[in-house]
Amino acid sequence: MEQMDTIKSAALAAIEAAADQETLAAIRTQYLGRKGSIPDLMKQLRTIPPEQKRAFGQQVNELKDAVEAAWTARAEALEAARDGATAAAFDVTLPGEWRGGGSLHPITQLTDRAVEIFQTLGFTVADGPDIETVFNNFDALNHPPGHPARDVKDTFYLDDPNLLLRTHTSPVQVRYMLSHPPPIRIIAPGRCYRRDTPDATHSANFHQIEGLYVGRNVSMADLKGDLSHFAREAMGPDTRVRFRPHFFPFTEPSVEVDFSCHVCGGKGCRVCKQSGWIEIAGAGMVDPNVFTAVGYDPDEVTGYAFGMGIERIAMILFGISDIRHLYENDVRYLAQF
Ligand code: PHE
Repeated sequence: MEQMDTIKSAALAAIEAAADQETLAAIRTQYLGRKGSIPDLMKQLRTIPPEQKRAFGQQVNELKDAVEAAWTARAEALEAARDGATAAAFDVTLPGEWRGGGSLHPITQLTDRAVEIFQTLGFTVADGPDIETVFNNFDALNHPPGHPARDVKDTFYLDDPNLLLRTHTSPVQVRYMLSHPPPIRIIAPGRCYRRDTPDATHSANFHQIEGLYVGRNVSMADLKGDLSHFAREAMGPDTRVRFRPHFFPFTEPSVEVDFSCHVCGGKGCRVCKQSGWIEIAGAGMVDPNVFTAVGYDPDEVTGYAFGMGIERIAMILFGISDIRHLYENDVRYLAQF
């Protein structure tokens, strides 16, 4: 019994003095562990005379319970003290650290806006792959063999000579007409690739928005009306549109499309190189040979098509002086727009 009292006071004192969980764990091993002093007492039960066994067992159990309870209480107290210290060090009323929000890339912003405008005119979005067949990119679009645009100097061909990185979004016209009967009205934004040496206005990788409207009696007046609507919505209500005669293999007649300069309103300035006009798109009436290539009857339908350079519009609208700024991915620069 004496031994029990000694163990008890020593254990309780040690527990009370324990300042951290590590010390506390060691105390547990020392007194309550499998080889600890309290289980050791239990083993002495064998040596106790039978009439005292019961009282002895009870005493040891009480000792064990008392030490166990003191230990748990101390462990909880230490835990609470630690949580309290953490909470005191963390001031929830301090303002947070602002990481800054992201912003949409100017090309994305402009593409979204253009799609939105043409959707109000009844156009739906069509899509095609960056890797195209020579047929979709050139043959079906009425490029004769030997046409300069087919040259390896201008076009990225893949190992398979029937495949290339599309040089314009016009192959989406072919894909769509091959899989849908007329009438159709689509807009197709996407990436294009040409073997250009990068400079302030050229990039080997750029974006276009293709438009195609095919139906009965679609005319050049529809083309000009729809592009004029787009110009006013995208660049401002006073923007005018003019057509200049041009040539594309897949349209006849073909035009280049200028918008009046949104900076000077047409009077002439640095942005429009004093001409008052900015070239925005190529366009024209779909060539009958293209209709034949995709299985449309050129005697039944007519259509217009256009392709605009998105970088060009972005540079003009946002005052970006070098196309390469759009691809260097400096978020401090891009976040301005
Ligand atoms: N695909 C032509 C280009 O990249 C643009 C264009 C599209 C012209 C549709 C006419 C009709 O230059």
